[in-house]
Amino acid sequence: MEDMELVTPRMRFGIWALVHGSRAALQDPDEPYDASWVRNRDLILEAEALGFDSTLVAQHTINPHKPDLAQLEAWTASAAIAALTSRIEIITAIKPLLYHPAVLAKMAMQIEEISGGRFAINLVNAWNKPELERAGIPFPPHDERYAYGHEWLQVVEPLLRGEAVTFEGRHFQLDGYALRPAGIHRSRPRIYVGGESEPARALVADKGDVWFINGQPLADVQALIADVARRPRDGAPPLRFGLSAFVIARPTDEEAHAALQHLAALAEKDTALRAVQKTNTDPESVMAKTMARFPRVGSNGGTGAGLVGSYDTVASRILAFHDAGIETFMLQFQPFEAEMRRFAAEIMPRVRPSVAAPRRVRRARS
Ligand SMILES: Cc1cc2nc3c(=O)[nH]c(=O)nc-3n(C[C@H](O)[C@H](O)[C@H](O)COP(=O)(O)O)c2cc1C
Repeated sequence: MEDMELVTPRMRFGIWALVHGSRAALQDPDEPYDASWVRNRDLILEAEALGFDSTLVAQHTINPHKPDLAQLEAWTASAAIAALTSRIEIITAIKPLLYHPAVLAKMAMQIEEISGGRFAINLVNAWNKPELERAGIPFPPHDERYAYGHEWLQVVEPLLRGEAVTFEGRHFQLDGYALRPAGIHRSRPRIYVGGESEPARALVADKGDVWFINGQPLADVQALIADVARRPRDGAPPLRFGLSAFVIARPTDEEAHAALQHLAALAEKDTALRAVQKTNTDPESVMAKTMARFPRVGSNGGTGAGLVGSYDTVASRILAFHDAGIETFMLQFQPFEAEMRRFAAEIMPRVRPSVAAPRRVRRARS
């Protein structure tokens, strides 16, 4: 990278909460459909105990795969998770079109207080048209949604810092609006942005702290980081980077690829659902175009990041992404609980050396 030195902070691991059940295939005898509060609560408590740093609670008001399936509500569940956990970061997604920025900033600051300074928002711009349209909420074109989201974040960010906000915009007008309490634990909750299009990149460079990238091959991730990391930040600290990825780790590469084939075969059973989902998706969504480029299981790029293989293979690929600038790996598994435990037991020690146990991983060639 030309004139920019990228210093990657300590590696962090997170898990996607199962707000709409299994990530790779919905009809899996090893993981019956379960998006309940109790399952998600227990999952996140266990992730925290296993040493995961973060959890991402996606926001969907109706189930994006099949509207008659259960769907966990992100914000109320996150408040409860905040009260039950003590260390893990809670990142909750928000679609600006659903909440006025002052109301949302207030909710975020309340969860920040409940969690003792462990809360973050993930700004996402919506792709599932029926979620809004069937509730009578307008679903403007892609770039207009981003313009709305950009203005929304211009209001939310200073409110989160406790500033008195006076704002005269196209969509929002505020007059000396200030939220209290503010700044009890740190200056404000962290702001993640998930989205790959040009307006998403401009938004995160302008007002975000961390850019979430959909799972995809290392070279693509390097190019995306290079593009966004060089953008002006108006005095803000350098952007950080997160990667979504579905992990299949086994003792050998062969076993991992067999497990991938097994999940891919199960995912075939959801073909009809996926066809409906495709018609519901905004065709301008760059995320959808990225995912159409390679076969995968899992959402948000899934196995496209290549974290499929032996323990050493997966560990070496994680290290390569980390060297490229990825700080937070937001992970999916299936069956989730069992594979999350395996990741904690086999992969974490390989990539997170303690002083007493230096890096054990053998780097794979590809
Ligand atoms: C890590 C990550 C998490 C996301 N979480 C959600 C979510 O919770 N709800 C949602 O509707 N979309 C989610 N999205 C998708 C975004 O809404 C965004 O609309 C999508 O990436 C299309 O935007 P793009 O054209 O900028 O890529 C997420 C995307 C990423 C990368």
